[in-house]
Formats: sequence, C-alpha cells, structure tokens
Amino acid sequence: MDLATVDKLLTTTRSVRQRLDLKRPVEPEIIERCLEIAVQAPTGGNVCRYHFMVVTDPAKRAAIGDWYRQSFAQVYPEHALAERRKTHARDVASWVYLVEHLKDVPVLIIPCLENRPEDDLSPHRLAGFYGNILPATWSLMLALRARGLGSAWTTLALRHEKEIARLLQMPPMSRRRRCCRSPISPATTFGPRNACRRGSAPIGTRGANGADGEPARYHKNGISAATLAR
Ligand SMILES: Cc1cc2nc3c(=O)[nH]c(=O)nc-3n(C[C@H](O)[C@H](O)[C@H](O)COP(=O)(O)O)c2cc1C
Repeated sequence: MDLATVDKLLTTTRSVRQRLDLKRPVEPEIIERCLEIAVQAPTGGNVCRYHFMVVTDPAKRAAIGDWYRQSFAQVYPEHALAERRKTHARDVASWVYLVEHLKDVPVLIIPCLENRPEDDLSPHRLAGFYGNILPATWSLMLALRARGLGSAWTTLALRHEKEIARLLQMPPMSRRRRCCRSPISPATTFGPRNACRRGSAPIGTRGANGADGEPARYHKNGISAATLAR
C-alpha cells in the first residue's frame, strides 16, 4: 500500500464548498463506483439499514437547496452569523457560499437510514443507529476525493426531512439486508466484503430508477447529505 498517498487522502480530505466546480458534469459511473466502495464500510450489528440516493434533477436540487437555505437562516440568524464572523470569518464565508449555491451543485447524494430513532433511545442504541451509516458516508467522501471530486457533508436540510422525503418519493426500506459480516481480527489478507458486492449492496434499492430488490443502481432523482463537484 502506498502509505504516503493513503495518509495524504486521510489527512487532507476536507469539506469543499467555495472550490466546488459547479460547471463540470460528474460522470454517473464514478458515483456508482464510489458508492460500491462506500458500502464496504462496517455497520453496527452487521446489518445494513441504509441506502444512498443520488439527486441530479435540477428542480429537485433547487428545492433541496431552498430548504437548506431556510434551515441555515433558522440556525444562524444574521446576528449569530455576524458574531461568528468575528472569530471564524473564513468558515462563515464558506458556509454562506454553499447555502447560496447548493442548488447549483451537480450531484447531491443523500445517505438514508431505514427508520427514525425512537424517542429516548439509549446512548448505546443511538450510537448504533447513526453509526450504521456514518462510516460509509465518510468512505464515500474519501473515494470521491481520491477521484478528484470534492464533497461537503451537510445535515442542516434535515430540518426539512419530511418535505425532502416527499419530494423524492422516498419509500421505506422494505426489508433488512445482512451485510458486512467480516469480524475485525488480525488478518494477513484483506478483500472486499462479499455480501456488499454490487447487486446486494444497499445503494438506492428503491426509488426513481428501480423497483425494490433490483440490483444496486445509480439514482438520478434521489436526496443528499453530501454534495460534490470537482
Ligand atoms: C455530522 C456532520 C454534520 C455536518 N453538517 C454540515 C452542514 O450542515 N453544513 C456544512 O456546511 N457543513 C457541515 N459539516 C461539515 C463540518 O462543518 C466540517 O467537516 C468541519 O467544520 C471540519 O471542516 P473540514 O471538513 O474542512 O475539515 C458537517 C460535518 C459533520 C461530520
């Protein structure tokens, strides 16, 4: 393994907002390959309860961008933003840029969990719930970066989670899929996880382009928590 390259990837992958190239198209094959890589990530209890949706439709991106803008304004009203600017001017400029341009980002990828956490979930259960999808999401961002695609992790639009789900006609996942069965142990060989191969991987198992149970497919009309561009 080329440690210098791996270490560089792991230590220099950052949220890209102002440096996003909003003009260059992103090839679907690259997204598909990155998602295949992402679902190699571990999940709590060896159960995949997530899928990714990919949104490229301009009208849907615009609607999501608008909800993102509204959420940002609620969380950071002007006086709070002004205060934050005093100490974190560069960060604020970067956030605001994304708020203004999210709709123009060519691809939005939304990691979707199967259910909502129940109220009063114990820390252990809650960690498992969100921990199910976060490693795959970070792997996705690393895989994108390795291919010259920038991405930014966003969660603010989740304040409009229900509207976004309706917009994208998100169905509930219909069944659990077992995957990622490999235990962590000292090993001399490492390889792909068989159960996560394309065809059984939880990439957009239902939605705009396919019926339930179809092979993992790239979706043209999904939702997002990661945005990307070159
Ligand atoms: C769980 C999570 C939620 C985040 N939500 C947002 C968000 O809604 N909007 C945004 O611009 N950045 C968001 N970020 C990105 C962080 O602000 C960013 O990663 C952090 O400030 C470190 O900066 P860096 O990525 O440039 O190293 C989120 C990151 C994480 C891990």
